[in-house]
Amino acid sequence: MAEINLLRRYPRAKRSVGKRATAKTDEHIRISRQYGFEYFDGAREYGYGGYRYDGRWLPIAQDMIAHWNLKPGDCVLDLGCAKGFLIKDFMRALPGLEVFGIDISRYAAMHCEPEVIGRIHVGDIHDELPFPDHSFDAVVCLNTLHNLKRPALVKALREIERVTPARVRRAV
Ligand SMILES: C[S@@+](CC[C@H](N)C(=O)[O-])C[C@H]1O[C@@H](n2cnc3c(N)ncnc32)[C@H](O)[C@@H]1O
Repeated sequence: MAEINLLRRYPRAKRSVGKRATAKTDEHIRISRQYGFEYFDGAREYGYGGYRYDGRWLPIAQDMIAHWNLKPGDCVLDLGCAKGFLIKDFMRALPGLEVFGIDISRYAAMHCEPEVIGRIHVGDIHDELPFPDHSFDAVVCLNTLHNLKRPALVKALREIERVTPARVRRAV
């Protein structure tokens, strides 16, 4: 299978990631793993330092739509969708596309973009996905699966396979 980078149009970070990592304490990590206010919109040491929509996912959504040849009426699932920025940009890029997300953060769901209200399910990717087999045309999971260790990671990947179409595996 050919390798493809569907995130090639994601903006490159200007900050030093290594510098940020050394500034974190165990307490910062403990709080950030609660995925609440501090992680998204609190001080930088806890996470994003302000997780705000800026449209950066739009070109990525366009590339994914083209790559998977998605059409209006198709269904996409974003696992670890946070406040639903990618969901919103999928819907901007292709009106009529049905996009939903799952995230463990009630805070993120409660502070989602207005356009995605009702599209985010609060849930844990350690659990079985609450959807029938093959119910999505594409499933994405960005910057989230790395949090899982075996065997939870294997189980989550199996769940992603289960809800994607049998004919093509479309998980990233
Ligand atoms: C690094 S953020 C990535 C957000 C978004 N996908 C992005 O790339 O900007 C990780 C996201 O995964 C969510 N998350 C972490 N563990 C999770 C779990 N076990 N189940 C569901 N979501 C989880 C967090 O709440 C957070 O929104």
